[in-house]
Amino acid sequence: MTLTELLESRTSTRAYMAKEVPSETIREIFTTAQMSASNCNTQPWHVAIVSGDKRERLAKELVALVSSGAQPNPVFQPGDYGLADEYKQRQIDCAMALYDAVGIDRADKVARMQLMLKNFEFFGAPHVAIFSMPQAMKEVNAVDVGIYLQSVMLLMIERGLACCPQGALAFYPDPIVDLVPIPSGNGILFGLSFGYRDEAAEINDTRTQRANFEEFAQMIS
Ligand SMILES: Cc1cc2nc3c(=O)[nH]c(=O)nc-3n(C[C@H](O)[C@H](O)[C@H](O)COP(=O)(O)O)c2cc1C
Repeated sequence: MTLTELLESRTSTRAYMAKEVPSETIREIFTTAQMSASNCNTQPWHVAIVSGDKRERLAKELVALVSSGAQPNPVFQPGDYGLADEYKQRQIDCAMALYDAVGIDRADKVARMQLMLKNFEFFGAPHVAIFSMPQAMKEVNAVDVGIYLQSVMLLMIERGLACCPQGALAFYPDPIVDLVPIPSGNGILFGLSFGYRDEAAEINDTRTQRANFEEFAQMIS
């Protein structure tokens, strides 16, 4: 696939087959993504890739914690903070696209909660990568981690894999840092669930829209 085709075909996948991705493929993807650009070549990302028993345990602990009504305590402010105007509208549209795909009524709080909880079992993906960077770093360094994330996602699509970036996984860091080797002093930015897409799952029919060029760009001469 060309880069244009990769970009146009990637969508977030929220239901997976039980099949694991070979370790060599995972290693190759995260290594190739190292060619991503970063400020002063600092490469501020750390990635903990969790599979197997550890993944099962992490999912159980996260679901139990979130279901208990515990307060989130993210290190870095999540991406849905401070949204207004068109940004708020796009967030609503994004949620509605998801609810529509699975036939959830927006007023059905229980169904919405059950759907939200799927984040914490990694949407059934056999692997989840936890992306962190030093807590002392700022927005511009987080940009580097985002660039790295995009490289990883496109390399996955190129290899017939599927993935879903998840800011939700930054909300409850405690069970993650207990079970997963995150460097001390790092904060979690987001996770990436990945594996093989379940083509039959209706949740994977979710499609989001994009703003037109004129809405976000200006050409000046
Ligand atoms: C940094 C980041 C965090 C995200 N967090 C979540 C999340 O917690 N849960 C989720 O279901 N999707 C999450 N998404 C996926 C977005 O909702 C999705 O990318 C957006 O709606 C566009 O849809 P598409 O990826 O299918 O093109 C996240 C995406 C990014 C880039």
